[in-house]
Amino acid sequence: MENHIQIFDTTLRDGEQTPGVNFTFDERLKIAKQLEKWGVDIIEAGFPASSTGSFKSVESIAETLTTTAVCGLARCVKNDIDKVYEATKKAVKPRIHVFIATSPIHRDSKLMMSQEEVLAAIKEHVSYAKQYFDVVQFSPEDATRTELPFLIECVQTAVNAGASVINIPDTVGYTYPTEYGNIFKTLKENITTDHEVIYSAHCHDDLGLAVANSMAAIENGALRIEGTLNGIGERAGNTALEEVALGLYVRQDHYNNQTKLNLKETKQTSELIARFAGIRVPRNKAIVGQNAFSHESGIHQDGVLKNPETYEIMTPQMVGVKTTEMPLGKLSGKHAFAEKLIALGYEINPEDQKTLFKQFKTVADKKKTVTDRDIHALIQGTEHEQNAIYQVETLQLQFVSEGLQSAVVVIKDNEGQTYQDSSIGSGSIVSIYNAVDRIFNRDTELLDYRIDSVTEGTDAQGEVHVQLKINGKNVTGIGIDHDILLASCKAYVEAHAKYVSEFEVKEGSH
Ligand code: KIV
Ligand code: ZN
Repeated sequence: MENHIQIFDTTLRDGEQTPGVNFTFDERLKIAKQLEKWGVDIIEAGFPASSTGSFKSVESIAETLTTTAVCGLARCVKNDIDKVYEATKKAVKPRIHVFIATSPIHRDSKLMMSQEEVLAAIKEHVSYAKQYFDVVQFSPEDATRTELPFLIECVQTAVNAGASVINIPDTVGYTYPTEYGNIFKTLKENITTDHEVIYSAHCHDDLGLAVANSMAAIENGALRIEGTLNGIGERAGNTALEEVALGLYVRQDHYNNQTKLNLKETKQTSELIARFAGIRVPRNKAIVGQNAFSHESGIHQDGVLKNPETYEIMTPQMVGVKTTEMPLGKLSGKHAFAEKLIALGYEINPEDQKTLFKQFKTVADKKKTVTDRDIHALIQGTEHEQNAIYQVETLQLQFVSEGLQSAVVVIKDNEGQTYQDSSIGSGSIVSIYNAVDRIFNRDTELLDYRIDSVTEGTDAQGEVHVQLKINGKNVTGIGIDHDILLASCKAYVEAHAKYVSEFEVKEGSH
């Protein structure tokens, strides 16, 4: 495929701007590897100038990926561009994405810059980036609320300065398909260039139109779509890439173009991101939701049994949904467990497999059947605990009186040192969190607390998500256990561990 539709995945940059989502260093690397397996063309791995954590992630993703282009985001600021260069220089295909806002509201209220100043900034910084990068992508932020003649001037300036990818962000999810399509058509008709220029669509879903707008861009000449898996992102999120990919695949008759994605990796990629982001995919979500391929009504079931095409425009197998899951049970042995890990796409060393097998047996003793989701949860729980710098060693709870509970918490750090404290509270969770607060002695506010069950049924494992503000920084934590109080404690402690590793605060204040 010569001019295929390129997929630019920004799960690790715009996706991570989802409220309450912050991936760890390790999770970012795993997501990047899975995105490479899915076959995306470019990964926007982060905004290196924004934090040391983002810089290091982009750098390690650039060093690790073997085929995919790795891109970093930069404002029209020379230091941002230098940072992207430093972080991506070891990538097989290093890329930069330079942006500046162009709409009147952003120029006047945010940047305090005139049109001439914005044009000068574009010229200066795209040329500066071009010294380091063969391919420079430029985005006029809030393009869809920018006066069309001025948008043309901005794009022409970027192209003249050497940009070869022009991305048109619908930053606030304001546009509609015919209007957005027309922007691409107008740019293609008006921009003059002596080098090839690719047009790219970047949509937000505030009005629920992100995918429709992206498809309209393709109809009008865009050859690149930016977005995220499961549509995660700031506010209502970004274009859901899996929907674009399947839209192009199923309606080849209309779009006459394709992505190079390995569609069979779609479900696996979506699940990985949902787990790390701590955001469940809605059941009815197109392509990757649990119900996307199930038929409830008798008439539909009857039709599907006679001929699946009566009610199915695509098959679950196309996107890697396994319809014949073989659950494990308490009689399953090491071999069946190892086979299952491989089937679920995990590469786990023999030592860790032994530990996981023991944990699997504990779960199997408590549950009749251990499903794939249980195994994912088991591994996720273990990964969370192994990667975190703190682990919950012991949790003891005691009823005091009049609804008061007392909790004793013992935490071990990754150097083997233990910390212990106790507290009372008006309920079990409050007493646990008070005890942990006494151990860490940080300014902590619990912003969100949520329990999900990993599978259906009363014997399900509990998955607790918390969002905390610690010393002014938002962090999240996940804890998984059969005992939801222990899961709650693990989630809270993991958020503290993330705070220390992400914000590199060495407080020494236990
Ligand atoms: O939505 C947006 O405008 C962005 C830019 C940084 C491209 O994400
Ligand atoms: Zn965006």
